[in-house]
Amino acid sequence: EKPVTLSELAKMRSEGRKIAMLTCYDASFAALLERAGVDVALVGDSLGNVVQGQKSTLPVTVDQMVYHTECVARANTRLFIVADMSFGSYQESPEQALRNAARLMAAGAHMVKLEGGAFMAETVRFLVERGVPVCAHIGLTPQSVNQLGGYRVQGRSEAGAAQLKSDAHALEQAGAALMVMEMVPATLAGEVTASLTSMATIGIGAGPACDGQVLVLHDMIGVYPGRKARFVKNFMPGAASIEEAVANYVRAVKDGSFPAAEHCY
Ligand code: KIV
Ligand code: NA
Repeated sequence: EKPVTLSELAKMRSEGRKIAMLTCYDASFAALLERAGVDVALVGDSLGNVVQGQKSTLPVTVDQMVYHTECVARANTRLFIVADMSFGSYQESPEQALRNAARLMAAGAHMVKLEGGAFMAETVRFLVERGVPVCAHIGLTPQSVNQLGGYRVQGRSEAGAAQLKSDAHALEQAGAALMVMEMVPATLAGEVTASLTSMATIGIGAGPACDGQVLVLHDMIGVYPGRKARFVKNFMPGAASIEEAVANYVRAVKDGSFPAAEHCY
C-alpha cells in the first residue's frame, strides 16, 4: 500500500473520507496500526501520562519525543507520522519552534503538532514556509491545564465559541494542514469544520462532524488505569485481539459510527 501523504490527507478531506488517527509510541504498535489500517500515527505527548505515569503532559521533554518518534518511524512504511512538540519547546519564538521541530522531523516525523490558537499563527507560518507541515490543536489544550483550571469542555460560552472559530481561521490562514479539536461541543466543531476551506479537522471529544478522529491508544484498548473521559471508547470488548480492536476503531471512524452521541458534548 502507498504511504499516506499530506496530499492524500487533503484528498480524503475533500472527498469526505474520514481520517483515522491514533496515538503510537513504539515500533510494535506502529506495525500493528499499519496492519489495522490506521492513516495517521500521533506520537503524542500523552506518552507522559500513559507511558511515564506523569500527572500531566508538562514534564515531557523534546529528547523523549525524539526517542519515541524514532521508535515509531523505524517500524513504519505507510503511516503518516505526526509528532507532538513538548511543553516549552515552541512557545518562546518561531525560531525556537523550528529548532525543535527540525529534531522531530529528523527523527522521522512527517508533521509536528503544537497547541494554541491565533497566538501561535506566526509560528505555524514560520514552520510551514520552512518545510515543516503543522497540525494545530485547539479546544482543551492539555499543556495549558493549569491555566484552564482542569480538563473541561471548551467553547461552551458565546465568547468561547467565537474565539475557537477565529482561532481555527487564523491557523488555517497560517498554513496548518490539520487541526485537532479536543473537548469541544459537537455542534460547534461541526460549524468550524464546515467553515474551513483546506484544513482538515480531527476530533477528540468534538463530535462526528470532524474530518477525522483521534484517540489515545491506551484508552482505545482499555489499558490506561486513569480516569476515563466521556469521549473515550474501549474497542477491546468483542474483539479477539488488539489488532482487531484497532481495525474496528478504524472502521467505526470511517463509517461515522464513532463517536456516538454518548461520546460527545
Ligand atoms: O498527546 C496526545 O495524545 C494528543 C491527542 C489527545 C490529540 O495530543
Ligand atoms: Na498531545
